Amino acid sequence: DKNFVIAVDGFSSCGKSTVAKALAKHLNFVFIDSGAMYRAVTLYFLRNNVDFNDENQVVSALKNIQIDFVPNNEKTQILLNGEDVSDEIRQMHVSEKVSEVSAIKEVRHEMVAQQQQLGQRRNIVMDGRDIGTTVFPKADLKIFMTASPDVRAERRFAELKAKGEETTVEDVRANLAHRDHIDSTREESPLRQAKDAIVLDNSDLSQAEQLEFVLQEYYKRI
Ligand code: C5P
Repeated sequence: DKNFVIAVDGFSSCGKSTVAKALAKHLNFVFIDSGAMYRAVTLYFLRNNVDFNDENQVVSALKNIQIDFVPNNEKTQILLNGEDVSDEIRQMHVSEKVSEVSAIKEVRHEMVAQQQQLGQRRNIVMDGRDIGTTVFPKADLKIFMTASPDVRAERRFAELKAKGEETTVEDVRANLAHRDHIDSTREESPLRQAKDAIVLDNSDLSQAEQLEFVLQEYYKRI
């Protein structure tokens, strides 16, 4: 039996991980948040003052980074060299730099290779920006998510506020626009809708409706 790969891509804060998690849970697939990997690398670079523009520093830093996903009750923790960084990687100081770090060729090559490894011989749902185009160009199902900028900014702001982060909806909106711009214009595996991706605009859909939509596409393909 061949494994089944579901790629969920799209702009920042479109609700990709919410749909991807629900789908993985429903189908009993492994959920992999590729953005968390870029965020962990960024956190490492920030903590260790790695100069993003210095290729040697970047390459040697990458050799010292071990990223693991470990299940913990209902959640999956992300470990950076054994330390649980699940919460810290979501903070604004990481969000502000993550797109710059993810545009670095060496960083992408390493992360894409690790993501491909994680998807070997297992049924997975992976969310990100280049999963359907670069990481798994032959994915069995590709979803491309969109939502209006207002909806996206409000959602992410509410999330951060709930976690006690001090920020404003304007700052969040600016950060989303900034990341989308870098993510779509970079040279290495830019954010693009794969030709064979199904578009899911969730501005006006409940989570249950989104899951239903994606499941229908899944059942057409098995
Ligand atoms: O998905 P999330 O918003 O957590 O991703 C954070 C950042 O990581 C994105 O803005 C993007 O710069 C980068 N990323 C990427 N390729 C992926 C996933 C995330 O470049 N597959």
